[in-house]
Amino acid sequence: MPLVSEPWLGQMGWSVTRVGVAGRAEAMRFDVITLFPAQFAALTEEGVVARALQRRIARIHLRTPRDYTSDAHRTVDDRPYGGGPGMLMRYEPLRAAIEAAKAEAAKDGVRSRVAYLSPQGQPIDQAQIERISTAPGWVLVAGRYEGIDERLIEDCIDEEWSIGDYVLSGGELAAMVVMDAVIRLLPGALGHADSARQDSHSSGLLDCPHYTRPETIGGHSVPKVLLSGDHQAIERWRLQQALGRTWQRRPELLQARGMSEVEQRLLDDYLREAARSKPGVGSEQSE
Ligand code: ADE
Repeated sequence: MPLVSEPWLGQMGWSVTRVGVAGRAEAMRFDVITLFPAQFAALTEEGVVARALQRRIARIHLRTPRDYTSDAHRTVDDRPYGGGPGMLMRYEPLRAAIEAAKAEAAKDGVRSRVAYLSPQGQPIDQAQIERISTAPGWVLVAGRYEGIDERLIEDCIDEEWSIGDYVLSGGELAAMVVMDAVIRLLPGALGHADSARQDSHSSGLLDCPHYTRPETIGGHSVPKVLLSGDHQAIERWRLQQALGRTWQRRPELLQARGMSEVEQRLLDDYLREAARSKPGVGSEQSE
């Protein structure tokens, strides 16, 4: 299979196969059901995910329910029973597309679970992303219009995921967000082996501040400890900053995570210092 193939209309539906690996290698597999496959170029054309696809770390297959319709107009939507605005995605084409995707994945040795992206889903945080990344493959269903027929959710969907408490025009961006967050965690996807582990949120904390050259700009200097070459002191400072920022900006994360005695002391020092250097500013929690 070509590494980067042209989209084609085939029996199995519109499919961009970025990476094809015979048999089940370590490559994680995503099959996406979408009415707008071209949108996924944002993910597959450049950046970390594109590189991971080229390196055969992950595969993304796209198919559209339109290819699984039986009427001349290739109808994928219909009016909701009971009235109301908007249209719903029809059961039959979606079910056929999901089953085709699962069958294709199975031929590849991958038993995929099926997730539907919707604002009604369970919230996806970094812990969920890590869980998702351990599965061999997923079929992602990106909804459009007002959503999909509820019976399809009952019959074919294993999990329903939301990327946040706001409503997008469709599940495509949400599916891309999830795939991006997952694929960058896969071994070999990021250049630096430690980069994913050092991410904001992977420790349950927000990230610490970062600095690059020049050493001084606009009257602001890089914190001295970062120039000290003392790796232990740098690690301690970074942890302290992460604790302080999380306490100030996302206290609920810190509460859910808890702190060791050492961390509590680091945070206390951070808050004392913040109160001293900028009374009434740094030591306050945001809303
Ligand atoms: N589709 C529309 N809005 C969404 C959201 N917030 N999360 C996941 N899928 C969606």
